[in-house]
Amino acid sequence: MNKQAIEKAARYLQEQFPAPPRIGLILGSGLGVLADEIEQAVKIPYEQIPEFPVSTVEGHAGRLVYGQLEGATVVAMQGRFHYYEGYRLDQITFPVRVMKALGVKELIVTNAAGGVNERFQPGDLMIIADHINNMGVNPLIGPNDPELGVRFPDMTEAYSRRLRALAKHVAKQLDIPVQEGVYVANSGPSYETPAEIRMIRAIGGDAVGMSTVPEVIVARHAQMEVLGISCISNMAAGILDQPLTHDEVIETTERVKANFLRLVKGIIAEMAKQ
Ligand code: HPA
Repeated sequence: MNKQAIEKAARYLQEQFPAPPRIGLILGSGLGVLADEIEQAVKIPYEQIPEFPVSTVEGHAGRLVYGQLEGATVVAMQGRFHYYEGYRLDQITFPVRVMKALGVKELIVTNAAGGVNERFQPGDLMIIADHINNMGVNPLIGPNDPELGVRFPDMTEAYSRRLRALAKHVAKQLDIPVQEGVYVANSGPSYETPAEIRMIRAIGGDAVGMSTVPEVIVARHAQMEVLGISCISNMAAGILDQPLTHDEVIETTERVKANFLRLVKGIIAEMAKQ
């Protein structure tokens, strides 16, 4: 991704933000409400930001929300870009590059995902321990700019051990049950077949979705610390004797929203102390 474009977007945002944000948030389907809790908010629709792609999918507001949350200066993406919408991965991950340029050190990524692990239930929250990129593409393909990161970035600890421990500690204190597991990203937009879900389970996946992995790869390339949280919105295909619908995904995220908000706010409050 071209550095001039990143710098142009960052400069535009710096003019509107009173101080650099420390924590970045990417809010998945149905989880964008967290951004409504940001105080002294500066809200900027994506279409106003130079070089930013524009969001199309329903349920995604498509704006950056900057401000104060639980004692931390944050910048949140209310609505993200998906590969299945037809964006290139450099467009999908552009906001992560801009967050880095703004000074973001820690990135919290959230999504709605299908439960592959049969011990999970719809409504569970899962701390992402690791991921499997099954999208068939990588956002770092192409010439590497060494000023943005190394050619072959390490992914041994894509999801920060420190932030995972912090998240589990906060969940316990708030008495919110959390699972931990491996997130597998497919391109979508079709949901998986039951055979694909059996394969995903066999290769070690606990949850499956259509996002997050490109942003996390770029965040790690940029040496940001990452925490990922999935809301298990449905059991993946073939586990229950019923078809999958986007409505179910939305209904479940709606139902667990309160706990999701409490957990993420608790995590940010704890991060702000450190
Ligand atoms: N599969 C893929 N993506 C998803 C699912 C699913 O079952 N649920 C929510 N996002």
